Amino acid sequence: MHIHEAGAMHGDFASLRPSWLGVPDNVNALLPRLWARGVERADDGVLHVGGLPVEHLAAEFGTPAYVLDEDDFRARCRSWSEAFGGDDVYYAAKAFCSKAVLRAAAEEGLMVDVCTAGELAVALAAGIEPRRLGFHGNNKSEAELREAVDVRVGRIIADSYTEIERLEAIAAEAGIRPHVMVRVNVGVEAHTHEYIATAHEDQKFGFSLSDGDAYEAARRVGTSKHLYLAGLHSHIGSQIFDTSAFEVSALRLVRLFARLQEELDEDMAELDLGGGFGMAYTSQDDPLPPADIAASLRKIVEEDCAAAGIAVPRLSVEPGRALIGPAVFTLYQVGTVKPVTLSAGASRLYVSVDGGMSDNVRTALYDATYSATLASRASTAAPALARVVGRHCEAGDIVVKDEFLPADVAPGDLLAVPGTGAYCRSMGSNYNHVPRPPVVAVRDGEARVILARETVDDLLRLDVG
Ligand code: LLP
Repeated sequence: MHIHEAGAMHGDFASLRPSWLGVPDNVNALLPRLWARGVERADDGVLHVGGLPVEHLAAEFGTPAYVLDEDDFRARCRSWSEAFGGDDVYYAAKAFCSKAVLRAAAEEGLMVDVCTAGELAVALAAGIEPRRLGFHGNNKSEAELREAVDVRVGRIIADSYTEIERLEAIAAEAGIRPHVMVRVNVGVEAHTHEYIATAHEDQKFGFSLSDGDAYEAARRVGTSKHLYLAGLHSHIGSQIFDTSAFEVSALRLVRLFARLQEELDEDMAELDLGGGFGMAYTSQDDPLPPADIAASLRKIVEEDCAAAGIAVPRLSVEPGRALIGPAVFTLYQVGTVKPVTLSAGASRLYVSVDGGMSDNVRTALYDATYSATLASRASTAAPALARVVGRHCEAGDIVVKDEFLPADVAPGDLLAVPGTGAYCRSMGSNYNHVPRPPVVAVRDGEARVILARETVDDLLRLDVG
């Protein structure tokens, strides 16, 4: 089904809605790229996932709940792993981290990127082989580094001279020679639809390329008898939709790679271009398929290596959002509906749900855009411009800033917000002492809890007086 701009009869909304948001012809239609593959509106109008009606999920697990279509997540992992076959795809666990999800990613052929002892503990508890893990972070503690070395994590991505010194001492003491990559700040900053190739290097991550720090850091690792220089790494941003920004960063990385190989006689194996590949949150977003991304990144790196006269190293990427984001939707129940008149003839429907910025802070924090649909029934009512808001005590507690919902949306209805798999549960909070929702995974027509709902008792347990 297509969503497109309607005619003048909908002009009342024009002043209130963003220009990208068309008035839908059919307010019940789902835009496929926003939803996990197993989600559909059944003949009775109810949203189903993997054949299960959302009403049943709400009755069994309560709301709000994050609902994961596990087959969809696995299919996305497979398509990335197949597209980059022969090279490595690391699932960035910061987007969403649980044992079941990390295990599924590993079963579908992916490696896993962690950035704290907490994420590492989940990966180890999930049974992921340590050699299939990468360890990131700009301020890893000595204890974290020691653990990463001791369990023999596959690669540690170094982010400062202090860390390199710590790693040398730890490795010398343990008698283990860890594989270390150097994170390079390539001076490229990419966001949704644009990038800057001369980004100011005024940020905390990586070693700057332009002032020689990246070369010096790689030299120190490469000449250390306790460390093994495994390669170079860069990560240039998030929610990136084309590969042109990677072109500049890859070129800069390959040039450094070539220089290090020549001057240090180093036999580095790997070049990591990081994560940041975009996903669709609204009709504005149209991400490239992984096969196109892989083909384009490979071509860029091959051309750059040919120009630099070096063999093509092993390539790796670290997508998080693109894998888990679209596989999850949040199921809420509507509590109150309040039309607010803003100017003559123009009003906005404030739809309050039983969650909010504690389960999805991205709208409040980044001005992120989301979509929503009435999930417990189809409606014949006209579309009304709505704002889905949470239950927290502040005006900025918005889940979906602009969306058309049927004008008869009412207390008790279920609402689904797609694309909430990445950085929603992982950035969740207990603001206002609201316990965090569960994650329910649906696979083969069955639903199971993979992260339990927190309770007020859980919160009180930590309140030791
Ligand atoms: N690799 C590194 C080194 C990263 O720092 C990140 C994300 C990723 C991979 C994965 O990026 P992804 O493919 O998921 O975009 N909280 C923000 C996003 C922060 C991303 C931080 N680093 C958000 O909700 O948009």
